[in-house]
Amino acid sequence: SAQYTDLMSLDDTFEGEVVRVEHGDKNLAVYSVNGEIYCTDNLCTHGNALLSDGFLEGFEIECPFHQGRFDIRDGRVTCEPASKAVKSYPIKVSDGRVFVDLS
Ligand code: FES
Repeated sequence: SAQYTDLMSLDDTFEGEVVRVEHGDKNLAVYSVNGEIYCTDNLCTHGNALLSDGFLEGFEIECPFHQGRFDIRDGRVTCEPASKAVKSYPIKVSDGRVFVDLS
């Protein structure tokens, strides 16, 4: 079952941008697109690059190392050389706070 934990303030997200968020031992990438918040692991599945250093275009994040791409909504690969999906996490927004289900 879903277990949402308080991740950050909604004020720390920016429309059309990705931010890096450390939470416990997790390094997360948090995206704001069309007023919705999305979250994935920050580490690229292809190498030692942080997606938060990449380029967000629509619902796709492009890795800064080899330009692999992932859909931020479900983590699936949309462009090689990435081949393994990045984990994505459900998000809820309430009272100006962003909650994530890391379970
Ligand atoms: Fe991300 Fe290679 S490290 S595509």
